[in-house]
Amino acid sequence: MQGLKSVRDTDVQGKRVLVRVDFNVPFNEALEIVDDSRIRSAIPTLNYLHEKGAAKIILLTHVGRPEGKEIDALKIAPIAKHLQSLVSFPEIELRENLRFDPREEKNDGVFAKELAALGDVYVNEAFSASHRADTSIVGIPKLLPSYAGLRFEEEVEHISAALTPPQPALAIVGGAKFETKQPLLEKLLSQYSEVLLGGALANDLLKARGLPVGASLISAEGVPAGLAQNTKLGTPVDVVVALGSAARATNTGDVRQAERIVDIGDRTTLAWSKKINNASFVLWNGPTGIYEQGFTKATQVLAQALVQSSCKALIGGGDTAAALSNFSFDPSRIFVSTGGGAMLQLLADGTLPGIEALKGSAV
Ligand code: 3PG
Repeated sequence: MQGLKSVRDTDVQGKRVLVRVDFNVPFNEALEIVDDSRIRSAIPTLNYLHEKGAAKIILLTHVGRPEGKEIDALKIAPIAKHLQSLVSFPEIELRENLRFDPREEKNDGVFAKELAALGDVYVNEAFSASHRADTSIVGIPKLLPSYAGLRFEEEVEHISAALTPPQPALAIVGGAKFETKQPLLEKLLSQYSEVLLGGALANDLLKARGLPVGASLISAEGVPAGLAQNTKLGTPVDVVVALGSAARATNTGDVRQAERIVDIGDRTTLAWSKKINNASFVLWNGPTGIYEQGFTKATQVLAQALVQSSCKALIGGGDTAAALSNFSFDPSRIFVSTGGGAMLQLLADGTLPGIEALKGSAV
């Protein structure tokens, strides 16, 4: 991307390098890290800085949403321990959760100065947090020469390229809040052969097309008629519905009043798998079902179809990435973004607060 300086463009020999990482990783109840891919994604940059002779590598991250208060379960100790198993050089230091300080989420000038004073050079290796205009993302680059990390660059490259994909290109978008995704969907419809909707987004479109959605999650604002009529926007032909703890499969036209749509059905999964197989490029963000309630089957089947196909793909969002992590695949064919919200925002807006901050950095 033009105007984005790379960490490779600067000499870090003997310097203190402040690296904003996104080690906001999922934990289980025993405070064990469930998925360390965000930590691993920063390692090439850390190794690079070490090899180039940085005097100190100071890592800044947020963890969770403590809202300015110190919360034991969100301390960085387990992450720091895990990091030690991945990098062994002594000049590295991971500082405590940035969001324990209420100034982090306020782009506070004084806090930015305090953080900037820790380093001589700043590197953003937190692509997945770069849609947040937080102090450590947009404030520090005003004060220090600032550069994109190696993974950050890769993310921007892959996601920007997905806006002019090889054809036929297929997009699958899950999740909720139609109104927030509408600009992105409109953009994708102009570039992709087909855009398939899963999750609660599909409920909104089914409703707008006059089909019953029972007690399913829907957005308050509804889908504009012009968009609902767009034939490139695809919805499931069958779904899994739940009523209490019972679930059944049914055609989309037969959802009963008290039932909730919880995933796409088998016929839809098969049809979408074939579409994946016929596509040259697939962009996929968001599971098709309510993942956290265990409705993961269709997402897993689609992930398998993707792995078995030969298309190029860009994947984003924690649950979608988790479905992919059950399979082995060539990462140069299927790029799994570390970002969920950041990926969607970059696709929709063509930039992020963290990218703009690097472009306008102090040097
Ligand atoms: C994420 O997990 O998407 C990033 O770390 C940003 O976290 P946030 O949504 O709490 O700002």
